[in-house]
Amino acid sequence: MKIKGSYSIFILVVSLILFGIIDVCNAQNLSKNFYKKTCPRVEKIVKEIIQNRTRSNPTLGAKLIRMQFHDCFVRGCDGSVLVDTVNNSKAEKEAIPNLSLSGFDVIDEIKTRIERACPKVVSCSDVLALAARDAVSAPFKKSLWDAQLGRRDGRVSLATETSGNIPGPFTNVSSLIQLFNRKGLDVNDLVVLSGAHTIGVSRCGAFSRRLYNFTGKGDADPSLDGAYTETLRKKCPNPATPTTTVEMDPQSSLSFDNHYYDILLQNKGLFVSDAALLTDRTSNSAVIRLRRSPSSFFSAFAKSMKKMAAIDVLTGNAGEIRQNCRVVNPLK
Ligand code: HEM
Ligand SMILES: *[C@@H]1O[C@H](CO)[C@@H](O)[C@H](O)[C@H]1NC(C)=O
Ligand SMILES: *[C@@H]1O[C@H](CO)[C@@H](O)[C@H](O)[C@H]1NC(C)=O
Ligand SMILES: *[C@@H]1O[C@H](CO)[C@@H](O)[C@H](O)[C@H]1NC(C)=O
Ligand SMILES: *[C@@H]1O[C@H](CO)[C@@H](O)[C@H](O)[C@H]1NC(C)=O
Ligand SMILES: *[C@@H]1O[C@H](CO)[C@@H](O)[C@H](O)[C@H]1NC(C)=O
Ligand SMILES: *[C@@H]1O[C@H](CO)[C@@H](O)[C@H](O)[C@H]1NC(C)=O
Repeated sequence: MKIKGSYSIFILVVSLILFGIIDVCNAQNLSKNFYKKTCPRVEKIVKEIIQNRTRSNPTLGAKLIRMQFHDCFVRGCDGSVLVDTVNNSKAEKEAIPNLSLSGFDVIDEIKTRIERACPKVVSCSDVLALAARDAVSAPFKKSLWDAQLGRRDGRVSLATETSGNIPGPFTNVSSLIQLFNRKGLDVNDLVVLSGAHTIGVSRCGAFSRRLYNFTGKGDADPSLDGAYTETLRKKCPNPATPTTTVEMDPQSSLSFDNHYYDILLQNKGLFVSDAALLTDRTSNSAVIRLRRSPSSFFSAFAKSMKKMAAIDVLTGNAGEIRQNCRVVNPLK
């Protein structure tokens, strides 16, 4: 019995180490200077276009980082969210949570310029990772995190794969933790990455049930601040119009900062999934910690983004370098 017990502990420890190493290898197959020889100007090209685009459209950072999140949570960060539907099998971007996803034209512009400079070398998934990083970083005059590169693109994009992978706005904390765990992200990553809701907007439909009919009895969600419920009702009449949006971090939806955690602690988190972060002991203390210190938020965000951006990546000879981000390459 005793021997058997320590044997299984031994196996456990060995597999933990092995999985750790495999994990690290995968992430390490991405590197900061992946295109140093093959496309040295890639980062410069992306930055130029993004700086130009964010000047006239400061909401681009929110669009692109959300797009990257959706890319990485469905089939790994493989550019599958960029693919257009062909025939009648709907692509990821047509799925319900598509979000009002936008910014695809920016990715196209960047990819076109890069193909001119170094054809068939830079993947669409890497373009998205750089573009999202630069768009969020634009107001800071420095990169908020290092983009690891060397991903390759997938050949499959299915709308049916978004549900079950992308959490919806009514997801509770245990399901959120589970969904993130399945991608190799822990509770801390969940709370840190949810901090991206410090920028951007949401359509009323994603939360209006909290305002008007939370349990089906014409009631409001009691976990949402009462006065804030009134404010939101004015902005989002019932039934919700599909195009009306509200800022997720009111009056501060263009500034990437740790203000999201302030909002949460005032019971003004917009989604059930935001408010849910207060309901678990570990996530709650992460919220309090991240609220306290902007610098710890920025360094934690950089760390968690690095993890998210490496989920199930295709490297080496896997996948392909897509030439047009909207269509998989024709078979030779
Ligand atoms: C934790 C689970 C998450 C849930 C349930 C969630 C849900 C949502 C929903 C429902 C919207 C509004 C979409 C719409 O109006 O149609 C939204 C917007 C947004 N999400 Fe999340 N999200 C989550 C995590 C993340 C993560 C990890 C990131 C990025 C790191 C992110 C970044 C954003 C951004 C920037 C927007 C605003 C987009 C815009 O302004 O167009 N979210 N999210
Ligand atoms: C920036 O945008 C302007 C106007 O939209 C355009 O004329 C210029 O070529 C752009 N520059 C770059 C580097 O994309
Ligand atoms: C779309 O349909 C055409 C014609 O039936 C077929 O050749 C092609 O493989 C299909 N493409 C995909 C991605 O299923
Ligand atoms: C999002 O999905 C809807 C319907 O599911 C579709 O009409 C719309 O074009 C999609 N948006 C994008 C950007 O693909
Ligand atoms: C969380 O949501 C899942 C899926 O909807 C459900 O099965 C579970 O019971 C919920 N957990 C709690 C604590 O409400
Ligand atoms: C509230 O929800 C209940 C149950 O889902 C539904 O029967 C009712 O029509 C809803 N009321 C409103 C005003 O949306
Ligand atoms: C890492 O990259 C090398 C060389 O590019 C490749 O041979 C190897 O298969 C990759 N490893 C993984 C785990 O993808």
